[in-house]
Amino acid sequence: MNIAPSATPEPCVIVIFGASGDLTQRKLIPALYDLDRQGRLPERLCVLGVSRTAMSDEAFRERMLEGVKKFAASFDKAKWDSFCKRLHYHAGDSISPEIYAGLSKRINELGTQHNILRAGGMPNILFYLSVSPNLYEGIIANIGQAGLVAEGHRWCTVNAEKMPWQRIIIEKPFGTDLRTTISLNQALGRVFEEDATYRIDHYLGKELVQNILVMRFANTFFEPMWNRQYIDHVQVTAAETVGVGSRAANFYDTAGALRDMIQSHLLQVLALVAIEPPSVFDAAAIMREKIKLLNCSPTLSEQAAASAGVFGRYGPTASEPGYLQETGVDASRNTETYAAIKLMFDNWRWAGVPFFLRSGKKMAAKLTEVVVQFKKPPTNMFRHFDSAVADRPANRLIISIAPREGISLRIEGKVPGSGIKLASANLELDYLSAFGGEVIEAYGPLILDAIRGDRTLYKHRDEVEGGWRICEPFLHSPALRTGIDTYTPGSWGPNRADSLIAADAPDRQWHNP
Ligand SMILES: NC(=O)c1ccc[n+]([C@@H]2O[C@H](COP(=O)([O-])OP(=O)(O)OC[C@H]3O[C@@H](n4cnc5c(N)ncnc54)[C@H](OP(=O)(O)O)[C@@H]3O)[C@@H](O)[C@H]2O)c1
Repeated sequence: MNIAPSATPEPCVIVIFGASGDLTQRKLIPALYDLDRQGRLPERLCVLGVSRTAMSDEAFRERMLEGVKKFAASFDKAKWDSFCKRLHYHAGDSISPEIYAGLSKRINELGTQHNILRAGGMPNILFYLSVSPNLYEGIIANIGQAGLVAEGHRWCTVNAEKMPWQRIIIEKPFGTDLRTTISLNQALGRVFEEDATYRIDHYLGKELVQNILVMRFANTFFEPMWNRQYIDHVQVTAAETVGVGSRAANFYDTAGALRDMIQSHLLQVLALVAIEPPSVFDAAAIMREKIKLLNCSPTLSEQAAASAGVFGRYGPTASEPGYLQETGVDASRNTETYAAIKLMFDNWRWAGVPFFLRSGKKMAAKLTEVVVQFKKPPTNMFRHFDSAVADRPANRLIISIAPREGISLRIEGKVPGSGIKLASANLELDYLSAFGGEVIEAYGPLILDAIRGDRTLYKHRDEVEGGWRICEPFLHSPALRTGIDTYTPGSWGPNRADSLIAADAPDRQWHNP
């Protein structure tokens, strides 16, 4: 059953597991503070942070204040003074079932204190799992056993809107491969309905990612060309200039670029570029199309994956360590800091069109972008001119997601003056200067969507499982895992990635600005 999202966010208690951690302090609380500052949070809403560190509400607020001052879009002392009254803290080990009676009591007390109890004496609850992924299944089971998920609004036929709801937001990673993802999804399914489950991908909260669908389907002229007849290939790149540093030990060395970026974020961006038109802009219709698309990508053998992928690892410089010298790296894991893969989709629209995805650390520039490369015109009426006129590049559309948000279309034009001379020029749309508005940290609007019951920008379990099905052959290919190239920090990755993109058409090249 799909519950229609409410237009305005409803009162609720947000229970954050992992409240003393980095994500809560750096992203979640600053995002909630910004929403409150903008008057976008419901008046009756509070946050209950849960982690093991002993802290009073006051100490928790002090800690969050540091994060808000540093990471919120702007800081206003008076706004903070009113916002911080919404913040509360409960110390406890959330994998231990014993704490849940106390937690449940605290949630209901806060429901009373903030006047958010609904029928049955429970408030709406939004759980947020911001803890290490190995704790997810235990916490979910404990929430279920404690009777904190009543799903009253589902079975109630009269006044269902007055019954409390319970929803859960889960941070990535959702599993480390297909098997662990299925296990996590089963654990979730035993306690929460799928439509109460919000698998967050902060990439989907980015304006320009959402703009992909608007651009494709609110305009007339992209869609007729958006297919194998006119598009040569598509590139999706997420590059960072920084290395892994201290994150190697606790996280990155067991993840790598393919898991950390391609499987989780870039496949989602690709899906928005490639899906069929949903009948309406809503969660169910968009998820359905994304799942259909992912199902069209053939499952590769590990051997086929080896020739459709390239892994790399940044080397040392005179002043900085290479990946293998970073603290906590175990060389025998063969973790990649760069991955490039080629995917195909066997459907009417995309048959024969390759999609190239790449992501790396310590690259030449920090950027996230989609490049849609069109085919050259079917005949070249300038062929008898010299090569500077005759050999012109194809049109290219670049959707820049970060750090700049904009769209650029490369077209060919005649250089003014006598004679025929051609050159490329870009039609540029700078998103913020065209439409105005404030850049909002992706987390805020996503949390607000969860409070409204809108899953449009969240992932369905079939999408996550579909993503792993596609990526696993690359992850497990012995040839890729043991054949990792070293690349120079500050470059665009291993040279073999250039051969990957040019393998079927020599003039295909990565867009390396
Ligand atoms: N940080 C980011 O930018 C980022 C970005 C994307 C996704 N994520 C994901 O978000 C999650 C949290 O990341 P993080 O960086 O915030 O991690 P973190 O800094 O290590 O925080 C983890 C939190 O979990 C708490 N915790 C550990 N064991 C617990 C237990 N048994 N019961 C209750 N609380 C417990 C810790 O506090 P105590 O020691 O006080 O219990 C701490 O507050 C991870 O899944 C991560 O993959 C993080």
